[in-house]
Amino acid sequence: MESHKREKISKLLKSEAGTEIVVKGWVRTKRGNKNISFVALNDGSTVNNIQIVFDMTLFTEEQLKPVTTGSCISVLGNLTASPGGGQAVEIQAKELYVYGTADPETYPLQKKGHSMEFLREIGHLRPRTNTFGCIFRIRHAMSFAIHKFFNDKGFFNLHTPIITASDAEGAGAMFQVTTLDLNNIPRNPEGKIDYTADFFGRSSNLTVSGQLEGELGAMALGEIYTFGPTFRAENSNTPRHLAEFWMIEPEMAFYEIKENMDLAEEFIKYLVKYALDNCSDDLKFLNDMFDKELIERLRSVVSTDFIRLSYTDGVDILMKSGEKFEYPVFWGADLQSEHERYLVEKHFKKPVILTDYPKEIKAFYMKQNDDGKTVRAMDVLFPKIGEIIGGSQREESLEKLERRIKEMEMENSTLWWYLDTRKFGTAPHSGFGLGFERLLLFVTGMSNIRDVIPFPRTPKNAEF
Ligand code: 4AD
Ligand code: MG
Repeated sequence: MESHKREKISKLLKSEAGTEIVVKGWVRTKRGNKNISFVALNDGSTVNNIQIVFDMTLFTEEQLKPVTTGSCISVLGNLTASPGGGQAVEIQAKELYVYGTADPETYPLQKKGHSMEFLREIGHLRPRTNTFGCIFRIRHAMSFAIHKFFNDKGFFNLHTPIITASDAEGAGAMFQVTTLDLNNIPRNPEGKIDYTADFFGRSSNLTVSGQLEGELGAMALGEIYTFGPTFRAENSNTPRHLAEFWMIEPEMAFYEIKENMDLAEEFIKYLVKYALDNCSDDLKFLNDMFDKELIERLRSVVSTDFIRLSYTDGVDILMKSGEKFEYPVFWGADLQSEHERYLVEKHFKKPVILTDYPKEIKAFYMKQNDDGKTVRAMDVLFPKIGEIIGGSQREESLEKLERRIKEMEMENSTLWWYLDTRKFGTAPHSGFGLGFERLLLFVTGMSNIRDVIPFPRTPKNAEF
């Protein structure tokens, strides 16, 4: 019987009673008495369990003994209409096979109601909880919806490299990739590390962003997007930063900042609506268990126009707010999450797209405005999160770009290929990056970014 094809619980719960079926999954709870046992079974296909009824005239107590919370079983039985409330159908068991036991004395998820902190310590088992089941199913749905959104619009998915020899934008400290023997580092006559002996013949790193390569794609294919892991070795232990996170970076030829903002707003609304339409059981669970305003907040984002505001006007509002911030606000300051959240949550009570930031706090490639002070950047700021998207129109003039690189005293020997896009057939273009886990924080209502990625990488944490 263990070799029978299983039906998924998600499908069974919507099926008509009256057929013989096999289910396979992990036991959530078992209760009952001498005459009858009820097992709630989950197979990961949905947050909902199916109830299995064991008539104890057909089974021995010995047979049911290893069926404990966390054990894995296969059951053949009849799908019948359930007399109890709560579920439409249940399974009357005829045969039982136990794949794997889970000793109640040592199984860490024996009891319900663990803290999120504790669950992070058992990251190898937390996918078995209802909460993480919901989160990871939503994560999948969002990933699928991202590809669907862009595919339907005629964008091409471009795979940009994970190992790179350029520091894309000074977006953050990088993780070095090397095969040099760290106990015996080769040095040149000047005493510097001899990278010609390294695997790639040069110093290389894990990428912080696929943008620069994405721009090469946009200058050929028109509209592309990347969706890959990115790495930042910042030692920032916050609920919004990971050392390894996933980013979606569309890059579009012939877009100016206005079209870039329109796309970003349409994109996020599409994804949130997709979650509301396709993940309702999972969202309802998270709404009931963690955040009673979650679904309401998601609906409101789909139906409101985002505010569009310049950095200068934003700073003005913050300075006049009378609010005590931990970090001071002044024109030129890099806005902190507390400032972003004040604008979004207290002042406008809507998502905000902030544009035209001082050039000193933004990357070299952003299009320079005529005022000589600001660049055509755009950050999308969200309730509870702060920055969810960062992007800009790109500087398409070779001359201005080279001047900026010089001003910033950047090492431009590794950027010659990037500059070639401005040398040969340059065009106005724009793009942005959506932090996938920041999006998931918003959609799931979780408050710590470690809880929306299966295996979080943060300082001093990479065990599983
Ligand atoms: O603002 P960032 O650094 O922008 C870029 O990397 C550009 N190359 C994007 C582009 O124009 N193509 O990062 C983009 C987004 C942020 O808005 C944030 O959502 C997310 O990536 N992000 C992080 N998410 C989790 N952990 C971190 N350490 C993050 N750093 C940035
Ligand atoms: Mg940013």
